Amino acid sequence: MEKLVVHGGNRLFGDIDISGAKNAAVAIIPAALMASEGTCHIDNIPSIEDVHCLERITKSLGCKIKTNVNSLDIDSSEITNLDACTEDVRRMRASYYFIGALLGRFKKARVELPGGCPIGVRPIDQHIKGFEALGATVKIEHGAVNIKADRLIGTNIFFDVVSVGATINVMLAATLAEGITTLENAAREPHVVDVANFLNFMGANVKGAGTDIIRITGVEKLYGCSYSVIPDQIEAGTFMIAAAATGGEITVKNVIPKHLESISAKLIEMGAEVIEQDDSVTVRSKGKLKGVNIKTNPYPGFPTDVQQPMSTLLCVAEGRSIVTESIWESRFKHVDELKKMGADVKVEGRTAIIEGREKLTGAVVKATDLRAGAAMVIAGLLAEGRTEIHSIEHIDRGYPNIEVKFQKLGAKIYRETIKE
Ligand code: EPZ
Repeated sequence: MEKLVVHGGNRLFGDIDISGAKNAAVAIIPAALMASEGTCHIDNIPSIEDVHCLERITKSLGCKIKTNVNSLDIDSSEITNLDACTEDVRRMRASYYFIGALLGRFKKARVELPGGCPIGVRPIDQHIKGFEALGATVKIEHGAVNIKADRLIGTNIFFDVVSVGATINVMLAATLAEGITTLENAAREPHVVDVANFLNFMGANVKGAGTDIIRITGVEKLYGCSYSVIPDQIEAGTFMIAAAATGGEITVKNVIPKHLESISAKLIEMGAEVIEQDDSVTVRSKGKLKGVNIKTNPYPGFPTDVQQPMSTLLCVAEGRSIVTESIWESRFKHVDELKKMGADVKVEGRTAIIEGREKLTGAVVKATDLRAGAAMVIAGLLAEGRTEIHSIEHIDRGYPNIEVKFQKLGAKIYRETIKE
């Protein structure tokens, strides 16, 4: 087991290359299984535990995979197993994309129910509603989704909630359905668009991704292709917040500034300087920042996945901030850890009321989930003294080499093995 040790108080300066988007890559890898001919070459794959987990699942289904530093070659011409029921499947959320991918190509699959971060109830009823509308029969038995269809036939599907996972999953299956499928009230996140683009590179016909109506004209077959995953909006947001939190200047490179607008706007409202270039964004901050109110929302609103790092920053901003989490019901578990460092935060249901303090002080804390882990790294960087962060396996699921990237910016952050 490992922990991160942070000696806080250093202002961070420099440039950092942002990796490929986790939440795009974790859908694109299962989607690659839908190519019945040719190899998918996928670049800009982040080296994170969730991706390694998907590589193992993909292999267990019979795909041949070649891994390079930040790329993957997936040959799925000979899938031998339609039963994705392993510990890896149970460990992570995105394993549910194997349902849509296998259903689309083989019209049947058995996939264990997914795990993922403990941030609230995470139903998949909208995924199932979409698959059933396409003509599939779904049974949940022994903790697994058993799905099959004689034929998949395109139809109109109106999602009851805006769901990234359901939008992508049903889009995967509909790609190989007969006729036209229209997804309404679809999620508009950049990773939804990225998956749609990847499917189109494979020969699919998906239009409208990035709006709330996606129209998919089914095709008979998908093929291998070369593709590069978009940059990670959430990793970029985390480093932008770190610049503001430490009173430094960081340029996040290899990003799409448009995807970061809601984060940039909040940092500007707090008093930080944000300068957008073509494919990079610089965040600079000198003085004390002021508190702001935040409400998380589906894209293009403020991303829930940046709420936790941002609420750490608000703990040392002047005045009161109110943070409302409208996507997940239990995404304030990092608050108890922040309190150990001197933060003044009161959580009432889905709202956190933060009274800005002069400073935080180092403590022994834990990463309760992935983005809570990023929030604790930011807290350690801005705090006075030494912070130890435990349970960092959560952080490794989604941030590639987090300590190495922060060291490059001047942070004193190290990974240490915990002696039993
Ligand atoms: C994706 O989760 C991301 N995960 C999450 O990122 C992110 O927080 C979330 O989208 C919202 O942006 C991956 O992409 C692997 P949803 P997902 O379906 O798809 C409700 C991170 O930190 N809902 O958009 O599981 C649900 O309860 C992770 O990287 C239903 O009611 O989220 C939630 O309130 C954590 N029924 C809301 O919709 C359903 O069938 C949005 O969930 C599906 C969802």
